[in-house]
Parts: sequence; C-alpha cells; structure tokens
Amino acid sequence: VSAPEAVYFIFGATGDLARRKLFPALYSLYREGKLGDRFAIVGVARRPRTSVQFRDDLYASIQEFCRYKPKEEAEWNAFAEHFSYHSLDIGNVEGYRELKAHTEELEAKYDIPGNRLFYLALAPELFGTVSRNLRDGQMLETRGWHRLVIEKPFGYDYPSAERLNEEIRHVFREEQVFRIDHYLGKEMVQNIEVIRFANAFFEPLWNKDHIANVQITLAETVGVEERGAYYNKSGALRDMVQNHMLQMLTMIAMEPPSRLDAEDIRDEKVKVLRSVRKYMSGEDVRNNIIRGQYAQGTHRGKELKGYREEESVDAQSVTETFFSARLLVDNFRWAGVPFYVRTGKRLPVKSTEIVIEFKNVPKNVLFARDQELLPNLLVIRVNPMEGIYIKINAKKPGNDMTIQPVAMEYCQSCQIGINTPEAYERLIFDAVRGDHTYFTRWDELAAAWKLIDPIAAAWREDSGDLQFYPAGSWGPEKVDQLLSDDGFHWWPVN
Ligand code: BG6
Repeated sequence: VSAPEAVYFIFGATGDLARRKLFPALYSLYREGKLGDRFAIVGVARRPRTSVQFRDDLYASIQEFCRYKPKEEAEWNAFAEHFSYHSLDIGNVEGYRELKAHTEELEAKYDIPGNRLFYLALAPELFGTVSRNLRDGQMLETRGWHRLVIEKPFGYDYPSAERLNEEIRHVFREEQVFRIDHYLGKEMVQNIEVIRFANAFFEPLWNKDHIANVQITLAETVGVEERGAYYNKSGALRDMVQNHMLQMLTMIAMEPPSRLDAEDIRDEKVKVLRSVRKYMSGEDVRNNIIRGQYAQGTHRGKELKGYREEESVDAQSVTETFFSARLLVDNFRWAGVPFYVRTGKRLPVKSTEIVIEFKNVPKNVLFARDQELLPNLLVIRVNPMEGIYIKINAKKPGNDMTIQPVAMEYCQSCQIGINTPEAYERLIFDAVRGDHTYFTRWDELAAAWKLIDPIAAAWREDSGDLQFYPAGSWGPEKVDQLLSDDGFHWWPVN
C-alpha cells in the first residue's frame, strides 16, 4: 500500500527532530515505495536557505541517521527533487500566502489533489499561531484533506494542555489532529495487542487471578545532554511518565476493544486511565512514588557529572531525572495487581522492557519441598532489542527432580538496528493514511494529565522526598523497597 498523494510540510525543518527522525523516516518510506511518486515535501523554517542547500542538509541527515543509505546519484536526485525549502516568519500571515502559491505549483507539478499534512516540529507555544495563520493564509482551502501532526509537550498540566488544545481546535477538528507519542509507533508496543488477544496462552490469564504484578522499565543511559532548559521544567514525570509510560500501561491493561479500530481502541485506553488510582495526598504520593536525581557517578569506567552540574541546570534544581511508582488500576480485571513503573536518565543500560509476572502454582508436595519455584514471566522487550520471551520451570537434566527456570525466546531483532521500521516511519505513514490508532486522542491526554497533576502538586509542596542516586546506578535505593514491601522484586532488565 502506498500513501495517498499529498504535500508534507515540515515546520521546524532546520531543527533536530527533522534532522534526526523526520527526514530519515520520509526517506525510508520512499525507499520502500510507500510514498509513491506524487508527493512533495516542503521544509519550513525562519532561516533563509535555498532548496539546494536544504537538500544538502537532507543528504547529511539521511547519511547519518537513516537505516537506508542513498544509492547512486540519479536515485538520490529523484527523491531530493521532491523537497523544497520555504523560509517563513511563522507569525506573519503574509508569508503563508506565499507558501500557498508555492504549494499550488507543487500540487500542479505532481498532480496532488490538495491533500496537506502539516507536521509541526516546533515548540508547542507556536501551535496556536501556526494553526491560525494556516487558516488565515488560506492554506486550508483545498478540496483534499488537511491534517495537523504535533508532538509533546502538550502543555505542562491539565489547564495548560486544555488551553493549547483550544487554540488548535479553533482551526482543526479532533479527527484532523494527530498527536504523536513515538512509543506508540514502536513495533513491540503495537505488538502488545497481538500477544494479548491472539494467544490462547495469555488471553485467559490476563487478569488479577493469574497475574501477580506488572513491571514496566524504561531505562536510559543518557543524561540530560543539551536539553537542560526544557528538561528542568519537565522532569521525568512530564517527559516520560505522562506519555510513554502511561501509554504502555494502557496497552497492557485495556479491555479487549470491540473492534481493532482507532476509536474503539482509544475508548478502552481512556477507561484504563480513568481507572488508575489517583494519588491525591502528599502521603499517598510519598508512599507510592519515588523520585530521584542523578548525582556524580561512573558508568563503564567513565566519570559522570551530577544533574545539578550539567550546563543550563540550576545548581539547586529539584527536577527529577528518575521516577518510579506503584500504580493500581481499580477495575475488576486488575483489582489488587500492582503495576510498577520506573524510568530514569543515567541508568546502567538503555532498555525498555515490560515484565508480566504470573502467580505461582500453589505450593505442592511434588515440587516445592525444599526448592523455591520461580514464577512464570512474560517479558516484552520493546527497545532497543525487540522480542518476547517467557520463563517457565522445567526439570534440570539428571536423576533428581531439580527444577530450573528456562527461557523460550522469540527475538525479532537480536541485533540492534536491524530492519524494523522506526516509530516515526510508521506514524507518518499512518497520519497520511488517516489512521488514528497510534495517536493520542484529546480525552486520553486529559485523563493522563489528571493523574499527573496531583503528583506534581504534592511534589511542589514538599521536595523533601527527592533522593539522589549515583549516575550509572539503578536509581535511589528505596526503589527496591517499593516492591519488597509487597513481597516482590524487580526482575533484572537485559
Ligand atoms: C523522548 C524524551 O520523548 O523519549 C527523551 O523526551 C527520551 O527524554 C526519549 O530520551 C526516549 O525515547 P527512546 O525511543 O530513545 O527510548
């Protein structure tokens, strides 16, 4: 299947997201024949630049970040000629009229029926202005479709998210808006539905009677790098939990949708978010949530700075670079099953994994006499390795009945960087085909903020619970206690 004919506008075309993710994604789609021939891509940014210069930047970005490398010159030129650059002061509506004339030329050249996809790789403060100017500059007056693709941060809390949404909704209807959470574009996150609903092994067991707990880890080795200014305001709670962590949790916890279509799936996800217990008091927050910040440490022999010593970070900052929580989904399926989540910067490995720990068989005279029986696990490896494995108990070869846990593994990409499409590739392709399944709907976003806001409020009131952990470690010591208090422990992450 190839995408419908369209013009793609990349606002923020000279920025990092465009260079690292969007251009490489577009090139991969092109190489796989998914863009067809009737498309045009317009890079929009303030900086003056010619289309020729722009194509040089494009080439460099693809060389560096794309899983396909440009082949011979003719092939490259055939792709690059679809790209043009348009310098625009995004606050000035006049510029949009010029952009309109440029677009109409492209639509005539490639015979494109007025379909326009606007990808705003910009700071969210600008979403409202750009939307209004697109409308007032008559960019939305063609017979084809018009879609807006945007990315977090969608606000800072529920009220600011709502304001931002209002600004966009003056111009675009909900079904025209595609809010990216790139975790939803990941192969193994999309695979959760199939693993759950297409397997007789799992579907009947997917509930409180058989599952003891769920553990979701999103560990990163990187520190805050040059993003201090953004990160210091957001912290792990807004940067990772409000979006990626909650998205993974909802995919694990949702009820089977009546159909596998976007609205039905998103309805179920919203219900999960509404069922997650809110921690409203400072005491609830302290008992169930741990926040940490990395201090000086070492990783693989390398000395690492503490967060407060990073450039553009305040020396007194109480921003959390680590978050861990015990979350509860208060519905019939999940009553009493803890969902432990943890995410942090400067941890020992880069790895995202979801572990489903099953309840043990009853202690029985056959096996459990003097040996401990480990529980069955289903492990979904999201990133960078992709695959699943299950841990089962089997007899150790030999004369006695010693039991050992063994793993059965399906490894989709045991080598990092093997050819599975990247999240942005899937998501751009879905947006241009009008498929909303893996985008965040407004009510999902609103429900997520309503969980986050009381936590942020409790933290604002009292920062005494912030714990420091050495860079390169698994976070504050108390994180183990969160589980040991319930009789569990974290399963090691690969
Ligand atoms: C982004 C966050 O959304 O996700 C970053 O802003 C984080 O701070 C990144 O590093 C992690 O994504 P991935 O795909 O590398 O696990």
